[in-house]
Amino acid sequence: YRDSLRGKKVALVFVEPSTRTFHSFFEATRALGGEVMPMSDPSMSSLAKGESLHDTVKMLEGYGADCIVLRHPCRGAAKYAAEVAEVPVINAGSGSQEHPTQSMIDLYTILRRRGSIDGVSIGALGDLRFSRTVPSLSYLASLFSGVTLYFMAPTALQIKPEVELFLKSRNVKYKRIEDVSEIRKTLREIDVLYVTRLQKERFPDPSEYEKLRGSYVVNRELLSYAKIDVGVMHPLPRVDELSPEIDSTPNAWYFDQARYGLPLRMALLHMILGGEE
Ligand code: NCD
Repeated sequence: YRDSLRGKKVALVFVEPSTRTFHSFFEATRALGGEVMPMSDPSMSSLAKGESLHDTVKMLEGYGADCIVLRHPCRGAAKYAAEVAEVPVINAGSGSQEHPTQSMIDLYTILRRRGSIDGVSIGALGDLRFSRTVPSLSYLASLFSGVTLYFMAPTALQIKPEVELFLKSRNVKYKRIEDVSEIRKTLREIDVLYVTRLQKERFPDPSEYEKLRGSYVVNRELLSYAKIDVGVMHPLPRVDELSPEIDSTPNAWYFDQARYGLPLRMALLHMILGGEE
């Protein structure tokens, strides 16, 4: 697929920090023979002067972008960009709402490690309120059969009602677990433990963040309550919720998960923009 994107330009518009998503889209485009138009420091672009997302999209199209990959702090940003753009827009994270390509990577990781997605029990642990990866993972996992989701978090960090409503409408089995002793019991039921960091940047009140900081940590002690072959996943970056003592265990799936971002995004760009092979 070395020439699949030959002559194509992929604009990377990242209005929020990123390591994995930005670089894997960058490398995926190059690996397929395409060119990147990166805009990774919004403070250095006219967005900082108050230029609208609409005008930014129009300018990028004017300079030949064939596709726009957008990360933005606002919910609905990618959807809006897709409405005003004439070229395809890929959502690389829209506020606390969604991060669909991360979820494709997550399910791909489960498929590779477990052989199938059907019937998997996923326990999401951490900041489920402000995380965008857990909603997207829930939406995508609902397309498979026999999936069970456990949302393990203190009440203040629980999954948003909009996600619950969606899961109910699709008859997906899920359970909210708020109590620490319940979490330990539930660990025995799950195949995949999906951890997220506290999304500090989205807390309306810094003192609330300080209160919840350190309220959950995945370490060897906690894993002793889980199935011996539980897969530990994390979209990364981690802060202090996932102990490095897990890194050397066979349960650590998160580095492979991050690596799979490259082939997954290559496949996605090829499907959207690729030429004949
Ligand atoms: C996630 C994100 O941006 O939502 N990171 C990523 O893309 N791998 C998770 C996070 O920032 O915590």
